[in-house]
Amino acid sequence: MTMLPAELLRKKRDGAELSAEEIAWWIEQVVAGSVSEAQIGAFLMAVCIRGLSLRETAALTRAMSQSGIRFHWHHLGKPVVDKHSTGGVGDKLSLLLLPLASACGVLVPMISGRALGHTGGTVDKWESIRGVRTEFAPAELEELLREVGAFLIGQSEAIAPADRILYRIRDVTATVESIGLITASILSKKLVEDLDGLVMDIKVGSGAFLPTLEAARELAQTMQQVGAELGLPIRCAFTRMDTPLGSAVGNWWEVLEAERALADYDAAPPDVRRLTEVLAAQMLLAAGVERSAEDATERVRQVWRNRTAWEQFHRLVRAQGGDWDGSLSAYERTPRKALLAPASGTIVRLDARTVGLAALLLGAGRRTESDSVDPAAGILLRKKPGDPVTAGEELALLLCSQPERFPAAQELLLSAYTIGEMAPPSPDPLIELLL
Ligand code: URA
Repeated sequence: MTMLPAELLRKKRDGAELSAEEIAWWIEQVVAGSVSEAQIGAFLMAVCIRGLSLRETAALTRAMSQSGIRFHWHHLGKPVVDKHSTGGVGDKLSLLLLPLASACGVLVPMISGRALGHTGGTVDKWESIRGVRTEFAPAELEELLREVGAFLIGQSEAIAPADRILYRIRDVTATVESIGLITASILSKKLVEDLDGLVMDIKVGSGAFLPTLEAARELAQTMQQVGAELGLPIRCAFTRMDTPLGSAVGNWWEVLEAERALADYDAAPPDVRRLTEVLAAQMLLAAGVERSAEDATERVRQVWRNRTAWEQFHRLVRAQGGDWDGSLSAYERTPRKALLAPASGTIVRLDARTVGLAALLLGAGRRTESDSVDPAAGILLRKKPGDPVTAGEELALLLCSQPERFPAAQELLLSAYTIGEMAPPSPDPLIELLL
C-alpha cells in the first residue's frame, strides 16, 4: 500500500475511520522513521480529539504489537502473568508485585514504560537504582526468567518499538488522554510478553488520565474486548487515584518506599499494602495457581511476611546489574527543602495531579522528549488527607539535584494541599473489580 502521510492525517483529522491496512501502514512508517515527529504528533492529536473506534483500536494494538519481536516463554513450564497500571502518582505497586508474584512461582516478564505526563514510569524508577539495566538481548531475558522468574525492562528498538516512539511523543504533547491510545500502548507491550493473563490497575480520580469512573469503565471494556480479540484475558481493578499512593513520589524515593514496604508487611503504607495484595492475588488467579481470592491473598501475605519477596526484590536488582548499597549512599546527599504548613487544621485534600506536576517540575519527569530525568528528584509527603497539622509543621520534603528548581515546585505543591477542619474518612483504595 502506498499512501501519503498527510492524506492519512487529513482523514483522521476530519473524523473518518481508518482501515486496518491504513493503520498497519502508518505504524510501519513510524517504526521505519519514514514519517517525521511533527507528523506523528499531528496523528496523536487528531486521534485524541476524534477518538478511535473499537475496530481502529484493535487494528492499532495489533500493528503496534507486531512492530518488534514477540516472546515465547511457555517452554519454561510455568504460568506467565503481568500487571500494568494506566498511570498514577506515587504508584510504585509494580515494584512490589514483581517480586511478590514471582516469589509465588509465576513468571513475570514485565515490559513497562517511562514517566508519562504528570505520572511516574516504572522504568525510570527501576533505572534510578545505580547500575540497573533495562535493555537486554532476548537470550539474556530468558536467562533472567529461568534464574529469577521475572524481569523489568522498557520498550526498545527491538521490543515494542512502535510504542517506544509514540509513548515518548505522547508524554510531551498532551496526547495521553485517549482510550484508544492508552489501550494500544499498554496491550501492544503486553501482547509481546506471551502472557496467560494480565491484571490491569485502572486508576480513577484527579491523578488518573481518565478521572471519572465512567471513562475508566469504558477503558476497561475496550481493553477487555481488544484483549479477547487478540487472545489476552484481562482482569481489571478500578482503584482510587485522587491522592498519591504511599508517601513517596519520584523515582528513587518510590523504589526505596517499595523496598521498605516489602521488608516489613506491618509497616507498609496501608493504601500500598491493600492494593498490592488485591492485585497480586489477581495475578495468581490469572495464572491459575490459586482458585480463590482468599487462598491467593494468603499465599501473597506469606511470602511478604516471611520476607521471601523482599529477598526476591534484591535478587532482581542484582540480576539486572543494580547496586543497592551504592544507591543508598549516593542519594543520601540529595539537596532538600521543607514545605511548611501555612495554617493549623486537618489535611482535607491532597490533589494527586498537582503533586505529580510538582515532582515533574523538580525533574522527576520530562518537559521535552530530549530531557533526562533526575532520579533523585521527588517529594516525601509528611502529611496526607486525614492527618492533623499545626502551622509551621512540615507538610512535605522536596528533593532534587538542582536546588534552583525548589521555589516553583514548592509553590505548586502547596496548592495541592487543602487544610480545613475535618476530613472525610479515607475510602477503600479499591473501588471494584471487573473480572
Ligand atoms: N501506560 C502505558 O504503557 N501507556 C499508556 O498510554 C498509559 C499507561
